Amino acid sequence: MPDESGPAELVELRREAEACTACRLCEQRTTVVFGMGDPTADLMFVGEGPGEEEDRQGLPFVGRSGKLLDRLMREELGMDRDRCYIANVVKCRPPGNRDPRPDEIAACRRFLERQVELVSPRVIVTLGSFAARTLLGRREGVLSLRGRDHHLPSDPRVVVVPTLHPAAALRGGPEALARMRSDLVRAKLRLSGR
Ligand code: URA
Repeated sequence: MPDESGPAELVELRREAEACTACRLCEQRTTVVFGMGDPTADLMFVGEGPGEEEDRQGLPFVGRSGKLLDRLMREELGMDRDRCYIANVVKCRPPGNRDPRPDEIAACRRFLERQVELVSPRVIVTLGSFAARTLLGRREGVLSLRGRDHHLPSDPRVVVVPTLHPAAALRGGPEALARMRSDLVRAKLRLSGR
C-alpha cells in the first residue's frame, strides 16, 4: 500500500496527484506513484518515472532498479529507504517504459517541486539524466553533470548530487556501478557537512 504518512500538505498533494489528469500518462496508469519515505528526511532521491512493478504497487523503486538502489543505500550510506524520501519526475508510468516526454514532465513538475519544498532535504541525489535536468534546469546528460556538486536553483542551500540511474548501472557493469558508488559517497559527505 502507498505510504499515507506525512504532514497534511504532503498528504493533500498526494491526493491531488492521485486525481491528476493533466497529461496522457493518466490514461494507462494502474496507480499514481507519488513517493515514499520520511517526509522530514535530509536526503531525497529523485528518479525518472515508475516502471511496471512500481505502477502495480504504487511505490517508487520496488523493481530491479530499486533492489540495487536499496543495496547501494545500505552499503554506501549505511541507511535504509525509510530514512530518506524517494520520488520521481513523473508520477505515472510511461507506457512500455519509454522516456517521459517534455509536456508530461512539464505537467508533473509542480508535484516534484512542492515535494522538494515540503520535505526540504539538505541533499538531493538525482538518478539519471531526466531527474538531473528537471531539477537543475540543465540540458546536459548525467555523465557530464556528475562528479561535482550542484545546487538547487530555487534554493541554493540544497546540494544536488547527480548520479546514474540504477537501471543504467545494471546495464553498464562494474564501471557504472563504481560511478554510482562514488557519487553516493559524495552525498554522504555533504550530508555530514563536509
Ligand atoms: N525507475 C525510476 O526512475 N523510478 C522508479 O520508481 C522505478 C524505476
